[in-house]
Amino acid sequence: MEHRVLKGFPADFLWGSASAAYQIEGAPFEDGKKASVWDNFVRIPGKTFKGTNGDVAVDHYHRYKEDVALMKELGLKSYRFSVAWSRIFPDGKGKVNEPGLKFYSDLIDELIANNIEPVVTIYHWDLPQALEDEYHGWESRQIIPDFVNYAETLFNAFKGRVKYWISLNEQNVFTQHGWVLATHPPGKKDMKLFYQVNHHANLVNAAVINKFHELNIPGEIGPSFAYTPNYSIDSNPKNVLAAENAEEIFANFWMDVYCQGVYPIVALTYLKENNLMFDMEEGDEELLKSAHPNFLGINYYQSSANAWNPINGGVQIGEMNTTGVKGSGGEQGIPGVYKKVSNPAVDRTNWDWEIDPMGIRIALRRITSRYRIPVMITENGLGEYDKPEESQVHDDYRIAYLSSHVKSIQEAISDGASVIGYHTWSYTDLLSWLNGYQKRYGFIYVDQDETMEGSLKRIPKDSYYWYQNVIKTNGQEL
Ligand code: BG6
Repeated sequence: MEHRVLKGFPADFLWGSASAAYQIEGAPFEDGKKASVWDNFVRIPGKTFKGTNGDVAVDHYHRYKEDVALMKELGLKSYRFSVAWSRIFPDGKGKVNEPGLKFYSDLIDELIANNIEPVVTIYHWDLPQALEDEYHGWESRQIIPDFVNYAETLFNAFKGRVKYWISLNEQNVFTQHGWVLATHPPGKKDMKLFYQVNHHANLVNAAVINKFHELNIPGEIGPSFAYTPNYSIDSNPKNVLAAENAEEIFANFWMDVYCQGVYPIVALTYLKENNLMFDMEEGDEELLKSAHPNFLGINYYQSSANAWNPINGGVQIGEMNTTGVKGSGGEQGIPGVYKKVSNPAVDRTNWDWEIDPMGIRIALRRITSRYRIPVMITENGLGEYDKPEESQVHDDYRIAYLSSHVKSIQEAISDGASVIGYHTWSYTDLLSWLNGYQKRYGFIYVDQDETMEGSLKRIPKDSYYWYQNVIKTNGQEL
């Protein structure tokens, strides 16, 4: 619907920005930290763009005060960052590594001293290698008590100072990349195992949320889901059905579990028919149903148009574009279920991510109607080539992307969605897991590249000053 007048953003709206430990910190073995699965995976030849790794990243571990000072100048209301599990428990469990905990404690104090609300992601993909070695990490249910113990340590250490917690970042992404595409650790291609691992992650998520509520930690907790809303390419009922399939298997399959504690029926039928069904143990269903997130975190980058894909001879999983050459990504699909096709109604980035601001509104409306839960946008942003010119970066394309998405969120709020915050991806430029430093997202340019020998100088881009004004006017000037 069109609104004659849009509702304003709530007065306490969290205008934020986000990052993740491995992508910014560096210092992988400092102050007692031991390896995470990413510290090792990046050393396998051919796994990352030009062999980039996070050994230095953008050196946030040593420069966090400088980074927070720039946040203050920007006027950020909140900052979402993740904790590296192996800084807190170098072996995944056992004795707490106090210097590791102190790093995050100091960061939180620094944020609070500058009136910035910390939003803490408990897990953004960097599993301690020790747990991978001991029991194959997510493949074993042993991860449940170890994860809960880790999360409880953070809850107790930071309670009262941290009000917003993200349990898992993009469970749908790390499980698919790790066990279907082999592009993230542990680099496997095993569809059945993927569904089993994913079920364990659901149990972890539920157990952590329950622990948070049992301990009466003041604040709110929820998972962050990478939601790519599915459309049909046209009104052909076969294509509409394909889009419904994609929505059921790639969206509701996670969000229904988070918000309603049940797996969607069509998805379960598909798994059973294809011998992909995971083991459910006694008590699992009850655990999933008993957990109630306070909000749903949504990472939104793009939508997806879908078409019919025949069971015989249909398109399979294809190559992702990690080259930055527009049009180099292959078609993706599951025969008999769906295939993703190019949407002629929208433009795309150099990495073939479809630019669709209205998609974030559609996403928010679907979530509001289906789950009636508040949403925190935990990521949204544009990855592009940025080039500094005389100590300035003119990223008008990023301003256009962000501004149109914020406007669309305002429209969703006017439609009735409850949105508590907006975190751009990302605060500074950082290491893209698979794309090195050529694909940049930050408000702040960092002089770092694939040689990993940059000066690490920080340069606020034009988008930094644009966002400063957005925050100052509480979203009235976009
Ligand atoms: C999200 C992740 O999937 O997208 C981030 O939570 C990631 O960690 C971001 O960096 C952008 O992805 P990419 O591949 O463009 O760096």
